[in-house]
Amino acid sequence: MSNSHNINFRRYLETAKPKGSAVPAGLQELLLAVVDTCSTLSHEVAQGALIGLLGSAGTGNVQGEVQQKLDIIANDLLIEGVQACKSLAGLASEEMELPVPVQGSGDYLLLFDPLDGSSNIDVNVSIGTIFSVLKKQDPKAPLETADFLLSGRHQAAAGYVVYGPQTTMALTLGDGVVMFTLNKVTDEFLLIKDPVTISQSTKEFAINMSNMRHWADPVRRYVEECLAGISGTRGKDFNMRWIASMVADVHRVLSRGGVFMYPWDQREPNKPGKLRLMYEANPMSFLVEQAGGASINGTDLIMDLEPTDLHERVSVMLGSKEEIDRLQLYHA
Ligand code: AHG
Ligand code: MN
Ligand code: MN
Repeated sequence: MSNSHNINFRRYLETAKPKGSAVPAGLQELLLAVVDTCSTLSHEVAQGALIGLLGSAGTGNVQGEVQQKLDIIANDLLIEGVQACKSLAGLASEEMELPVPVQGSGDYLLLFDPLDGSSNIDVNVSIGTIFSVLKKQDPKAPLETADFLLSGRHQAAAGYVVYGPQTTMALTLGDGVVMFTLNKVTDEFLLIKDPVTISQSTKEFAINMSNMRHWADPVRRYVEECLAGISGTRGKDFNMRWIASMVADVHRVLSRGGVFMYPWDQREPNKPGKLRLMYEANPMSFLVEQAGGASINGTDLIMDLEPTDLHERVSVMLGSKEEIDRLQLYHA
């Protein structure tokens, strides 16, 4: 099945059989609520300055980062959008220090980066929303932060919605990856790609080169070899892209292969990285693995990392398998 533009998201959820079983009704309810909210957000994002969405909110989040107005608006919209889901036990967001209990009495946990790519909002470059769904281990116990501290392998679903020239969603339910694009007239997400696969090899990498002097040796070696091009050890020329919205950079990797890196560096040696394990790295790693790529922190698969803090950071290298294998070898 490919390019079946007549299948909307609701119908997809009703008929999909990941690993041979129907999608649980509670998970369908939750994903529909998330995706409906993202469609609302997409319309708001497109209005920008016309509805006063641009600029800083003048506040800081739990990570000490300056919040943009849209960071807060997206966060509030998502909380409101899923609040009534019966299947939900609680949610956690990059923008809030503590998890939020919800009205529902179900056992799903939702984690999200409501607005990824904050530095791109005011310059009209692609931004997005990233989400991850876990299952609470003990459904009856009162909600605690510790309930969220599960490795990426526990994810029941993960995805993102990128607000770009098109509003497109990538989703995994643990059995491959599919993509939908929002029809902004009918407000339906329609299936555009099934399955999504990442090519094993690539000639394109993404990293913020301005941090080169701070990198660890294995990353520096890898990038220097790419830069050496056809006359170097790699024997081929590489292209580079850096959008500075993880959601858009990963969308490119899922669409045409490539490597995306935000590695640990010496600017803040005690921080494992910039990106967040629970809201960014785990959902993106789930998608990338399900599309046939790989995702590591240098030495280990990100999906296997046992989190100890809701807001913990991690070094990220993901994308085409051959390149990630090479990066892992350089870190051994
Ligand atoms: P967020 O907007 O959610 O804080 O995330 C921004 C992240 C990520 O999307 C992107 O890859 C990275 O920050 C860009 O960082 P630099 O500006 O350091 O390149
Ligand atoms: Mn982000
Ligand atoms: Mn964010």
